Amino acid sequence: MALLGLHPCQRFNLEELPNWSECQFNDGGTGPNEEAVNDIEGAFREALQSHSLLRFVKVYIARGRGILERSGRDPFVYAILGEGLSRMVGYFFVFIRHHRDSLSASGSAVTWQIEPSLLQRARAIADEVEKSGKEVSPYYKLSEDPPLDLWVRKNVRPVIESYVGSRAVAPHAHIRTVSAARFGPDWQHLYAANPNGYFHWDESCYSMPLIVYLDDVHLQDGPYSVVEGSDKWPRNFTIRAFTQAISCKLLVTNHFDAEYKQKIAALPRVFRGGEMVGAHLARAVLDEQPIRTMTGPAGTAVLSDGFSVVHAGGHPTTGRRRALFIAHRYPRKKLVDVYSRLGGLWWKLRVPPEKPRFAVNGASRRAM
Ligand SMILES: [Fe+2]
Repeated sequence: MALLGLHPCQRFNLEELPNWSECQFNDGGTGPNEEAVNDIEGAFREALQSHSLLRFVKVYIARGRGILERSGRDPFVYAILGEGLSRMVGYFFVFIRHHRDSLSASGSAVTWQIEPSLLQRARAIADEVEKSGKEVSPYYKLSEDPPLDLWVRKNVRPVIESYVGSRAVAPHAHIRTVSAARFGPDWQHLYAANPNGYFHWDESCYSMPLIVYLDDVHLQDGPYSVVEGSDKWPRNFTIRAFTQAISCKLLVTNHFDAEYKQKIAALPRVFRGGEMVGAHLARAVLDEQPIRTMTGPAGTAVLSDGFSVVHAGGHPTTGRRRALFIAHRYPRKKLVDVYSRLGGLWWKLRVPPEKPRFAVNGASRRAM
């Protein structure tokens, strides 16, 4: 059965990847599980149209219960389903406020060229960070850099607010300095099996950092890259919620070690994948996509929706990259987080976890 609206970067066929060949895969219940996912996804789309969540939650719980039973009430599956509902409730309360379908209608990233004079303070701090041998600067108070702060308010904030449909305030910032010579060994493993291995989605629906290059960035300096158009392609949000539940909450570990792979392989097929999509896809999937590599002179500024666009960057092959990252705060996010937690609680109330078993006179009995 075809899953509804699956994004090309959600077509996880891990059993076909050479570096997953040692794993034992579990394909039990695939057909009924995919049918359940399609029902959930259909109900989610209706909820976004009607702005009404109740029917979706009912469908999720009924269909999720079926997936859980078919797994033999696997506690890991139980946790994924609970976290998955929490995530989808969060998506709902973010998406219903969106004023348009994507951050930019004309591309997957918005770019500007900032005057070098506006970057003097940031570059001075980058020099200090580099001298200290560190990778990341302390918190960079944008309010102490009025010219740049004003530029962000005038140019970046309106683009973001007109997309998310709520206020973006008080940006915080930091500087990252990375070089192949200093940090290369820390990230080489990401590319060992697949040069596209670092392409990923960000966890937060509000992940829209502005990345400002403080020096010229060429191909070898780790330019930010996006899969052009990937923020506008259809996506299956149920599958996304499952992979987020696993990658961002329940199995936050090295995606390349054998233990991680076996845990993923042992899951029913609808849960198998990861937010680090490049590490969970055949190399050809991303090789066939239009990848836009954002090289540019100092002052190049790039804004994208990290939750929606498949992206990678920041790992120089031989050079270095120094960049200022500016991220806004979103007052509505606190409310979304509360609703999201209530979604997870809803699952636990409607589908209580198995009570632990204990032995009485040699017989296994369920706790009362
Ligand atoms: Fe990212």
